Parts: sequence; structure tokens; C-alpha cells
Amino acid sequence: MSYIDVEYPADKREFYKLLKEQISLYTASESDLTAVLANASSVIKQAFPESNWVGFYLKDGVELKLGPFQGRPAVTRIGYGLGVCGSAWKRGESIVVEEVECFEGHIACDCNTHSEIVIPIYKDGEFFGVLDMDSVVPAYFSEEDKIGLEGCVGLVLR
Ligand code: SME
Repeated sequence: MSYIDVEYPADKREFYKLLKEQISLYTASESDLTAVLANASSVIKQAFPESNWVGFYLKDGVELKLGPFQGRPAVTRIGYGLGVCGSAWKRGESIVVEEVECFEGHIACDCNTHSEIVIPIYKDGEFFGVLDMDSVVPAYFSEEDKIGLEGCVGLVLR
């Protein structure tokens, strides 16, 4: 199998099946975490044409540290419970934000961003980091996307 652009929005079940296959193409046979996360962020970014930022923040002690991403430069450190990312860590659950201005404590990295989704990643039951995605379109990410992306993030663990 080789890389193909995953078209969005298609039938969501089919979309996420294909997205997982495409992520696996670059993650299954590579052991280096940076290489895996870099390609995973690229595959996901390509699949969401209205996304303006897709990337990873990884747990580094008591805060999150910026990992591989696609998009404009972003804040490098986020404390536990802060912003959407730190809140997803604290709550231990994914967060879908329809309009970032309405999320108290949201950390702005790109003034064009309207909506955001953050998916926590766990390794052996321990919090590992988050997948963070932004979009210029209000309410771009749905509950279906939350479930679909939760099914994708485990593919990046080494
Ligand atoms: N908006 C995030 C910060 C990271 S940027 O979106 C890339 C937050 O509030 O945690």
C-alpha cells in the first residue's frame, strides 16, 4: 500500500478506516518517536483540509512540551490544567471546542483558529501526551471525529 490523500468529509466510518491505514503506513515499521509523530501529524493534516494546525504535545514532567506538528509556530510549553490541551490532560478526556473564544483559558497560537479538538494519548495506562488540532472553521470537529481520532492516536505509540 502507498500514500494516498484521505478525502474529508466522506463517509466517516470509511474515512477513519482509511486514515488509520494511512497513519499505520508510517508508524508501524518505524521505531523513532519523532519520525513517527512527524509523519502522523502530516497524514492527519492532509486529511483535514480545513485544519490549520495539527500536532502533538508530550508530557514532560508537570507540563506538556511541543512535539512534531504541521502549521504555524506554536507555544512550546503548556501547564497541567491550562489551555485546551492542559485541560484535556487534567480531565482525562477528549475536548471538542466549537469556538475557541468561548473556552476559558484557551491559549491562542493562530488568530485564524476558531475550533479545536484535543485527544489525550495514554501508554500502558499512563498519560503520554495529546493530539491537538485547530481549524479556521467554527465547529469543524464533531463527536464522530472525537471517536474516530481516539481510535487513531494509539497508532503513534512506540
Ligand atoms: N490552543 C491550545 C494551544 C496550542 S495551539 O492550539 C497549537 C490550547 O489552548 O491548549
